[in-house]
Amino acid sequence: MKFFVDTADLDEIRDLAETGLLDGVTTNPSLVAKTGRPFTEVIAEICDVVDGPVSAEVAATDAEGMIAEGRALAKIAPNVTVKVPLTWDGLKACRALSEDGTMVNVTLCFTANQALLAAKAGATFISPFVGRLDDIGLDGMELIRDIVTIYDTYGFDTEVLVASIRQPNHVKAAALLGADVATVPPGVLRKLAEHPLTERGLEQFLADWKKTGQTVPRA
Ligand code: E4P
Repeated sequence: MKFFVDTADLDEIRDLAETGLLDGVTTNPSLVAKTGRPFTEVIAEICDVVDGPVSAEVAATDAEGMIAEGRALAKIAPNVTVKVPLTWDGLKACRALSEDGTMVNVTLCFTANQALLAAKAGATFISPFVGRLDDIGLDGMELIRDIVTIYDTYGFDTEVLVASIRQPNHVKAAALLGADVATVPPGVLRKLAEHPLTERGLEQFLADWKKTGQTVPRA
């Protein structure tokens, strides 16, 4: 399973990239707005830090505009993935940009039928938003299960990119369902490594080690 980080914050991205665990980055207009910086500059810098796919979202709502914006964004770096919304115009743009050879992430997916359309339009990634479905009392993971089943049944290459992740349990559930990618906010990504028993165990080991008065050799 691949891990993308869901942020446009370069300090966070640099820090997480150092772990070697980062397979890509997703941004959206809200995340870019938080940086207060020029969009294309931020995307170019992220693409320098991370080798994997970096999603940059169009702002146009008509297919022609999305294709023009997508083509300009794709010129920033070879790992730019153009993000388009799951609308009829977005699906048209997805087809055109995919035919150009550009990676496309179809975003704001909330039903299995939408995911089916995105796969047929040649999407590289489909982004179902699990947290936003949970927020309205639905089951985000049920959508992931349905999409994985449909894509497996028909052999679609489109990767299931689980988005709108709010907590570590979302990551585990997505992994158990065989999702290809989880895009995770930095805070949640860090939490994946944490456990109180790990901390307590380490404290105990270090306290006992100190009593030996020894040091571990270093290369
Ligand atoms: C995905 O690409 C989106 O940027 C993101 O996961 C949305 O998450 P949110 O619902 O927490 O805003």
